[in-house]
Formats: sequence, C-alpha cells, structure tokens
Amino acid sequence: MSVALDLPALSPEEAVHSARLGERLREEIERAGGWLGFARYMQLALYEPGLGYYSAGARKFGAAGDFVTAPEVAPVFSRCLAVQCAEVLENLGGGDLLELGAGSGVMAAALLGELERRSALPRRYLILDVSADLRQRQQETLAATVPHLLGRVEWLDRLPDGLEGLVVANEVLDAQPVERFVWRNGVVNALGVAWTGGTPAWSEAPAPARLAEAVRRLERETGATWPDGYTSEINLDLADWLAAVAGALARGVMLLVDYGLPRREYYAPERSDGTLLCHFRHRFHDDPFARPGLQDITAWVDFTAVAEAAQAAGLDLAGYSTQAHFLIGNRLGEFVANVADLDVVERVNLSRQAMLLTLPGEMGERFKAIALARGYDAPLRGFAVRDLRHTL
Ligand SMILES: C[S@@+](CC[C@H](N)C(=O)[O-])C[C@H]1O[C@@H](n2cnc3c(N)ncnc32)[C@H](O)[C@@H]1O
Repeated sequence: MSVALDLPALSPEEAVHSARLGERLREEIERAGGWLGFARYMQLALYEPGLGYYSAGARKFGAAGDFVTAPEVAPVFSRCLAVQCAEVLENLGGGDLLELGAGSGVMAAALLGELERRSALPRRYLILDVSADLRQRQQETLAATVPHLLGRVEWLDRLPDGLEGLVVANEVLDAQPVERFVWRNGVVNALGVAWTGGTPAWSEAPAPARLAEAVRRLERETGATWPDGYTSEINLDLADWLAAVAGALARGVMLLVDYGLPRREYYAPERSDGTLLCHFRHRFHDDPFARPGLQDITAWVDFTAVAEAAQAAGLDLAGYSTQAHFLIGNRLGEFVANVADLDVVERVNLSRQAMLLTLPGEMGERFKAIALARGYDAPLRGFAVRDLRHTL
C-alpha cells in the first residue's frame, strides 16, 4: 500500500475492517477483468454497506473523527442558513425542509433550533442520507438537542414526491464518486484501479467512451490548453442526481453549499493534478488507496456543471456566491455583534467561528453556495451581497 504520508496507526479492529473492504475491492476488481473505474472504487470505499467509510462505524466528523465541516465547527453557519430558509418558507407560506446527507445531525439540530426561534419551523424536517449507519447518530443528536422537535423529523429511504419548501445539502456533492482522467496530448485516458502487490493502485487505461466524450467537451468548453499528463476529476452522475432531486421539488428552493469552482477555474491548465483529497484523522493527503473504508475521499465541485444540470432539469439558477458573502447576507454580522448574553469565552468562540467561515484563506472563498429554484421568484437574501452567477 503506497501510504504517501506518515498517517496515525490503526487499531487492530480498524485494520481488520480495512482488510475486509480490501478483500471486497479485490473481488470487484477481479470480476471487472482486473481494472475498475475510479468512481466505482470510490463508491465502494465510501458507501459499500457495512464496509464503506460512510456506511460503517468510523467516527468521521468532529475532533475525534477525520475532518470537520462548517456546521460541525461553527454553529453560526447553520443559524445563518436558517435565516435564508426562514425567508423562503415565509414567502412560500410554509412548507417542508429536506436535508440531504445530514452527517452527524448537527446542522439539522441547529437549523431547527434557529427556525423555531424565528417562528419559521418547517411543517416537516425530512432527512435523506445514503448512509444508513448515520441515521442512528442523527437521531441521537436531535434527541439530545431538540427533543421537543423530534416529532417533525422524518427519515426517508428515497426522495419524496411533490416537495414544497426547501432542499439543503452541505458538503454532499463533494462526497459523490468521480472519475479521474489524464490528458495525453489530446487522448483521454482514465485513471482507474487495479489490484497490484496486494493493494488497490492507480492504473491508466484508455477512457471508456462516456468519460472520453465528457472530458473532450470540458476541454472545448473551457478553451483550455492542457499540458500532457494533465489530471483531474469529473462527476459523470451529477446530472442524473440533480435531475432526481429536482424532480422531487415541486415548488421552492434548493441550497447547496460545498467547496468548488466555476468550470473554467476548476479545469484551468495550472490546476494540473485535480482536486482529489483524502482525510484521515485531520491529515490531508492524496492517496485514495491508503486505508480504504477508514478515510474520506472527496473532490471539488464543478459549479458550472451543477448550474447546467439544474437548468436542464427545469430549475432556475437563483443565486451563486462565496460562502462568506452568503453568510454575511444572512445576518452573520448581527449574530456576531449580538453577544450581550454571552460570556467572554463564548464571544471569542463566536468571532473565531465567523473568521473560519468567512476568511478567504479559510472556508470563506473555497466554499460556495448555489441556489436552484422552481416556481420561486423572490430575491434570496444570501445572494444579495454578491451575486456571482455570471462566473458560471
Ligand atoms: C462530508 S459529509 C457532510 C455531512 C454534513 N452535511 C455536514 O456538513 O457535516 C457527506 C454526507 O453526505 C451523505 N451523502 C453522500 N452522497 C449522498 C447522496 N447521494 N444522497 C444523500 N446523502 C449523501 C454521506 O453519507 C454523508 O452523510
């Protein structure tokens, strides 16, 4: 196994778990004739029932886990998001809120709490997560923090029909499987996975037609001249996923927050090794084959692709901005200024959260918010400070 970094040691149970997933991967690679597309590898490594990173017992979120997300480290993020949700629910005259990929449930708890304070609770708070393992954790978080609101929360096994209200998802797109490609002087190769020396390893092969066509389209559309060996990622299933979610939304707004870029920047020639990143106990590295099942694997989001897929699915592109501007538009300044009831430690903590969420070198610019709407024309306050739709 080519562990590029000096990663923390595994417990015996973790080593057994990872070896079991390794065995499952080996079988799958063999069944596929010795070569597996990277998206299939990522699907198995993250979501294989009982074995994948999100589908088994790893702690994942928070200080004792592998990575932190905005709602985990900065509750004020969810309070600001609640301001945007309250505005939409008010304009719609009420509705449901569907959260996709709710992780540990902290954002659901904080959103519900703030919406209650604003007398803007959704009729139902629906949660759909591909990981069945996380459902129990979400239930525990909500029972511990907003027990009196549990009656409004429903866990779904599939997308609902005819939703009127909101769909929200934080860091869900970056956790979806991507294909990895390499550009060889105009020829598109796929970086897939073979079983080599007892572990999964990169293996370059001619790209399957669907991937090759998609990559050539990217090259044409960005007008980029990629150097030989240029490597990057593409989520070939994004449009289908978005069409499915859009199909569930009869009227209202979908808000997605994630790290990513407009297509031209994402696929700029100088970003020549893509955006694939792995997280293991707060170490970042680029080896997706180290510790399969025990580490997160992510890739940045092409927000132009999100906008195009949404429009193809009949949604309007209602807003796109940096996370910093989205939060500022949703009263971040007021939350930070309104500290009369807080002690010194809480005040310091709150300003630390605000800096983390908004500074360009932290999460402020890497993360973006995008709003996609159906039958909803009112302006969205989160995009009033700075609207970057023209960059997509
Ligand atoms: C990086 S975590 C983010 C969790 C949480 N939203 C947060 O911000 O802390 C990604 C989450 O998305 C879920 N997920 C991934 N793909 C999904 C999909 N297609 N539909 C619903 N949930 C998904 C994962 O199981 C996991 O809970």
